[in-house]
Amino acid sequence: MKKRVAILISGGGSNMVALTQDMDAGHPAEPVLVLSNNPNAGGLAKAADMGIPTVVVDHRPFKGNREAFEAELHAALLAANPDIICLAGFMRILTPEFTAKWEGKMLNIHPSILPLFTGLHTHQRALDAGMAVHGCTVHRVTAELDGGPILGQAVIPVHADDTPDNLAARLLPMEHRLYPMVLRKFAGNDDTKVALFS
Ligand code: GAR
Repeated sequence: MKKRVAILISGGGSNMVALTQDMDAGHPAEPVLVLSNNPNAGGLAKAADMGIPTVVVDHRPFKGNREAFEAELHAALLAANPDIICLAGFMRILTPEFTAKWEGKMLNIHPSILPLFTGLHTHQRALDAGMAVHGCTVHRVTAELDGGPILGQAVIPVHADDTPDNLAARLLPMEHRLYPMVLRKFAGNDDTKVALFS
């Protein structure tokens, strides 16, 4: 039986689209839910167009009460009964209490070569550090922000005239290759790491 995948987004959802398009007939998993904390996320319409159920759990009414937001998020996820949760540009920090509930089942893609540059503004920080390479990482989600076990990484060169924006634009297609490769292996219980070079 195919594993059930819920994908959490906050924005355009290009990684969500890449994951979904890879989940063909022979894939060990299928998308069952796309959930966003942002009602205006462009990815919601893309998911609906692909026939995937969508749910919005807006974080804003819960301002100052992360636990209440996460209780709603948890309930929405439980209703979809996922075996795997993919964070794909989901821009909310999750509490250790929440991540513990899904530990071992939740993956994230982060736009840096972890453990370098956890958190935000990764492209700017890679440039500021004078990196010769940049990249992205898919990892298991634990209580530590961007700190769980690494499942795969993709690396690109940094060019002398790179800006944060064009570095991000050059990295994104690598994200779209890496995340589906990792999910396919993860869903198939293959824990060998993926390494991609542009
Ligand atoms: C991606 O670059 C992803 O790596 C990043 O957000 C973007 C989402 O794009 N994630 C993070 O920064 C997580 N901290 P998408 O909505 O087009 O997939």
